[in-house]
Amino acid sequence: MRLRRPRQHDWSRRLMSENTLTPSDLIWPLFIIEGENQRESVSSMPGVERLSVDLIVEAAGQAKALGIPAIAVFPNTDPALKTPDAKEAFNPDNMVCRAVKAVKDAHGDDIGVICDVALDPYNSDGHDGLVQDGKILNDETVELLCQQSVVQARAGCDIIAPSDMMDGRIDAIRKALDSEGFQNVQILSYAAKYASGFYGPFRDAVGSGGVLKGDKKTYQMDPANTDEALREVAQDIAEGADMVMVKPGLPYLDIVRRIKDTFAMPTYAYQVSGEYAMIEAATQNGWLNGDAAMLESLMAFKRAGADGVLTYYAPKAARMLNDA
Ligand code: PBG
Repeated sequence: MRLRRPRQHDWSRRLMSENTLTPSDLIWPLFIIEGENQRESVSSMPGVERLSVDLIVEAAGQAKALGIPAIAVFPNTDPALKTPDAKEAFNPDNMVCRAVKAVKDAHGDDIGVICDVALDPYNSDGHDGLVQDGKILNDETVELLCQQSVVQARAGCDIIAPSDMMDGRIDAIRKALDSEGFQNVQILSYAAKYASGFYGPFRDAVGSGGVLKGDKKTYQMDPANTDEALREVAQDIAEGADMVMVKPGLPYLDIVRRIKDTFAMPTYAYQVSGEYAMIEAATQNGWLNGDAAMLESLMAFKRAGADGVLTYYAPKAARMLNDA
């Protein structure tokens, strides 16, 4: 047996390849700021910018032209609007809702819009849930997440993506959406989301890092666990999730594979901010060929069984894949 024989030619390597990566596999996360024609770079994420709503609309147009099926939007909220009750989360005129509406008005059904559901961009304690005496309240938080989901759906959001890790939120959100007439709004649950050290740059980008009190270990999962991820996913599917997500990405490909094999559901992975920052930092130092490392990392998600990847590299990767 000569395993090298088919590796001799480019055409033959292409013929043999088991997995493919295309722009249709990519979801582009975008950060929103107030203003018009405003862009701000995120220092811990070279190449990533926070954009005002009009530029988010433009970015959505780029995504559409590149063949990227969906964007995910995250707000960098004015600190003055952050309160202990996180009420800006369900203000129908908040920045996320304005961005969703603007993107949908401009691009209609040509691009999918995903909204994160969690209180951290709006909570003065930086937590995904309501905080009382240092504890994160579950059921009280879920009620607010339902209100947040409904205002986002009303703004035109296609996919509600709860990232909060409260128990029972998928069932409650599904019922809330249905009762408001949003039966066709999909739910992508961040089902297996770990209490990770890789979210730091994202918290800079949305401005929640500085305010976060303590850590998120009482609701996000312990990186030591894998069976627990299956229980999380089983529960979210039973409660009505259309799609499930694993987060972070590359350090958790074993979880992606187990979930895909066990549930055969549309399964996504989030290549999070810290993963992006690592590749960028090494590239800036001349220690890595960034483009090669990027495409290899994205292909690894496909090999592990992911149907798609949320990645800050989406436009760059799509451009390279389209030009190849
Ligand atoms: C918060 C949320 C986080 C991310 C997506 N939604 C951060 C957190 O849980 O603290 C992280 C994404 C990234 O690091 O790129 N609900």
